[in-house]
Amino acid sequence: MKGIILAGGTGTRLYPLTKLVNKHLLPVGKYPMICYGIERLRRAGIRDILMIIGKASSGLYMDFLGDGSEWGVSLTYRIQSNAGGIAQALGLAKGFVSEGEKFVVLLGDNLFKDDLAPFVKSFREQAVGARVLLKQVADPHRYGVPVFHPERKDEIVKIEEKPSQPKSHYCVTGLYMYDTNVFDIVERLVPSARGELEITDVNNVYAEAGRLQYDVLQEWWTDAGTFESLFEASVMLRGVEP
Ligand code: DAU
Repeated sequence: MKGIILAGGTGTRLYPLTKLVNKHLLPVGKYPMICYGIERLRRAGIRDILMIIGKASSGLYMDFLGDGSEWGVSLTYRIQSNAGGIAQALGLAKGFVSEGEKFVVLLGDNLFKDDLAPFVKSFREQAVGARVLLKQVADPHRYGVPVFHPERKDEIVKIEEKPSQPKSHYCVTGLYMYDTNVFDIVERLVPSARGELEITDVNNVYAEAGRLQYDVLQEWWTDAGTFESLFEASVMLRGVEP
């Protein structure tokens, strides 16, 4: 299975640092943040990876990661010229995967302790649709939050993006698994109120069709997109060799 890492965007919550360097190149422990995501995918058997990166810092990515061989993967790069949202970045990957091929998408600022291999295996065995990974969190309003069916708790009815009154204690983490129908879904999306193509709108198309399955992470996870979570990630991953 192929992988796509989304590492574009502007990282405004980490200004002024991200005026100097792209968020995913900021240090976490001894390594740039991006290395941990590459390692999680590699360990899950995903070696052919497309990196979606912004124009700023693109040279730094290539200088540091090169063709990926040093990291045990093969890397291809594509530029997202304007940060039009996570789903817009995903749309740029069309053509990297063949029609009918399943694949994995990782947000570059998401850091996982869980081994992702069992989840990827479950998705391989899933007949149709998409799969997301949930994590129980204390502050779900910061994230996409799943709303479960009142009786069938294994069914996500919809996902609400950063709701002021979350309907569950879970968040949708930045590891998504899709079939290639996702590219048609992205093409039909309209920008949200904040002017972005939202990944939650993509996932809701699968949820409405009853084709969104999920697993729950058991170990530590963070989205290192704020100063607090970046600091937490550095403490948690200090000494971890990706
Ligand atoms: O971390 C999990 C959360 O990520 C989910 O719970 C939310 O549903 C999802 O919308 C997303 O929320 P964030 O507000 O944290 O997303 P952010 O704008 O920080 O973007 C996350 C990553 O996506 C970022 O590290 C790089 C990539 N990205 C983002 C944008 C907006 C791109 O590659 N291009 C983009 O234009």
